[in-house]
Amino acid sequence: MRPSVLSLLLLPFAAALPSHPHEARHAHPSGWRPHPKAPHPSLPVPLRIALTQSNLDIGPAELSKISHPDSPSYGHHWTPAQIADFFAPAKESVDAVIAWLAEEGVDPARVSLSPSKGWLAVANATIAETERLLRTKYSVYTHADSGAAHLACDAYTVPAHVAHHVDFITPTIHYDVQLPPVKRSGASKEIIKRGGMPPAAQLGLPDSASLPKMALGGLFTIFDQLEHCDEQITPVCLRALYGIPPAGLQFATSKNSLGVVEFAPQAYLPADLDMFFNKFLPSAVGDRPTLAGVDGGWLDPTSVGLQFNGESDLDLEYTMGFVHPLKPVLYQIGDSTLSGSFNNFLDAIDASYCTYMGGDDPTQDSIYPDTLDPNGYQGTNQCGAFAATNVMSISYSYDEIMLSPFYEQRQCNEYMKLGLQGVTLLFSTGDAGVASGFGICSTDGQYDPDGIRFVPSFPATCPYVTGVGATQIPEGGSVLSREVAVETNVFSSGGFSDVFPLPDYQKSAVQSYYNKYPPPYTAAQYNNSQQVRGFPDISANGLNFVVAASGNFTLGSGTSAATPVVASVFTLINDARLAIGKKPVGFVNPALYAAPWILNDIVSGNNPGCGTDGFEAVPGWDPVTGLGTPNFPLMSAYFLTLP
Ligand SMILES: *[C@@H]1O[C@H](CO)[C@@H](O)[C@H](O)[C@H]1NC(C)=O
Ligand SMILES: *[C@@H]1O[C@H](CO)[C@@H](O)[C@H](O)[C@H]1NC(C)=O
Ligand SMILES: *[C@@H]1O[C@H](CO)[C@@H](O)[C@H](O)[C@H]1NC(C)=O
Repeated sequence: MRPSVLSLLLLPFAAALPSHPHEARHAHPSGWRPHPKAPHPSLPVPLRIALTQSNLDIGPAELSKISHPDSPSYGHHWTPAQIADFFAPAKESVDAVIAWLAEEGVDPARVSLSPSKGWLAVANATIAETERLLRTKYSVYTHADSGAAHLACDAYTVPAHVAHHVDFITPTIHYDVQLPPVKRSGASKEIIKRGGMPPAAQLGLPDSASLPKMALGGLFTIFDQLEHCDEQITPVCLRALYGIPPAGLQFATSKNSLGVVEFAPQAYLPADLDMFFNKFLPSAVGDRPTLAGVDGGWLDPTSVGLQFNGESDLDLEYTMGFVHPLKPVLYQIGDSTLSGSFNNFLDAIDASYCTYMGGDDPTQDSIYPDTLDPNGYQGTNQCGAFAATNVMSISYSYDEIMLSPFYEQRQCNEYMKLGLQGVTLLFSTGDAGVASGFGICSTDGQYDPDGIRFVPSFPATCPYVTGVGATQIPEGGSVLSREVAVETNVFSSGGFSDVFPLPDYQKSAVQSYYNKYPPPYTAAQYNNSQQVRGFPDISANGLNFVVAASGNFTLGSGTSAATPVVASVFTLINDARLAIGKKPVGFVNPALYAAPWILNDIVSGNNPGCGTDGFEAVPGWDPVTGLGTPNFPLMSAYFLTLP
């Protein structure tokens, strides 16, 4: 969609050709029509120029320095201020753009730099002046349904010698008008069937593909010992499987933190937590997470039913059940009408993300105040309102093809910055094997019921997060059996990215996988170049978790269930590290790939989809279960030896 910006990101020092547009779009979003008459040349234009951030190209190497176990700077996490300074646009960029504007006759007195140093604003610009400056023509577009009007062009150009200093310019090809979201159950599937893409801010909808698969109807017999862990998973089963200590957090509770992220209209019910703790951890009855309500996020008491409470209840029960007495921070994103996306969440924990690289995308993310619901959130998007926690458990995901590579790269850069800050980001990979979350596959980057191409999930394919897949106890087995990839109703999503390159920390694992167990598929099915990011990284049991939800005990399954378990494991490891004055584990992938023996290797099962058996779980890393499931005693011993 924005090819020149993307190529700038990947090749920051390549000079753009002057004849090549800086940004272009081939089609305007559906529903928008250009007015036949050109706008008047004297019409004012609120011209703003976003400057490129510095050092994005060397960010990954910096992240490796603080997270690779062999590095002398392991654990030397950066402060948010250091991160903001390091990536801020260079003075050279500011000077180059002001000089260009002056050459074109724009008095420097009209140009001002934003306090964040990310933007230059040009006062009193007109259509005539902007069209000359950017070698473009503007039209006024109106939206058929809402009547909203918007000034836009199809493409624009900046001179080659300033192109690498300019991220993008507004108003140009971007749309900053939010239209009513589709919030009905089943709407995403309908949109996809019609060949369209559901917006990113649909994560919490009742039909969102990433929610856990919940058994309907109450459970009458709950096994709370170890005999039936192949039928029902309870905290005691997980402790036995992974060697998780029963005592919870013991040493450094006050210095520790764990975040659980939920998207409206998903919400937990307090009575559900007590129902769960009464059964499994009576000392935690009455415990509640600390609410960090983002962009109007609240505990909507009208959201009742498994499709509204299942995810949040599961995530909180299977974190609080392990890390008691620590109270997780619940990042509850979005009001009940607009909800929110990962970008709304990231804005809330990093103010600079709100504007960087064009800010959020109103066609994907929720823009506040909520103009659709007078009772909705009437403030502006919350930028930097909350601190990040040491570990984040995020049981929501998209398909890579839902979003543009530009959107994903921008968001992935932000995950890199959080990694520099020492945050462990755990994302569920999804439950539909190699197919999309909706169970269908793709052709030419579009959903297609007859498509044969696998559909990787995002953000797990971003190389700076940890993707979590799912396993199960084999049928009839016990906690002593070696687990297999989950193959009952849900299949662990995994495979290879169509967007992100292979990170250094994963090179030898992926190479060894291809050498020993080459998958029987072609480049038509997935990117088999061996040069792209593979996922997941780690996995944990995700079948038939006993969950108290909407007033009943029921069973929940999926990578959504596995993710909070892994988040709890890292939070317990942080407890031990913090107690002896060390830093939290931060971005864990380089350390995990350097020490695969600290995980229980999963060597059977697969992740079918797209008319295939998917990939196979094999010895070593595989694109079904990653490196394997937690072995808490080995993991904690290992992470305690690191500086
Ligand atoms: C913009 O135009 C107004 C009206 O002519 C003028 O008062 C103001 O100083 C101008 N602003 C700048 C920064 O040139
Ligand atoms: C909960 O269980 C009760 C008793 O079995 C049943 O009547 C009720 O419908 C169940 N509620 C839900 C939301 O499934
Ligand atoms: C696969 O990934 C490689 C490395 O990023 C890339 O060069 C190639 O174009 C990709 N192949 C396809 C078919 O997209």
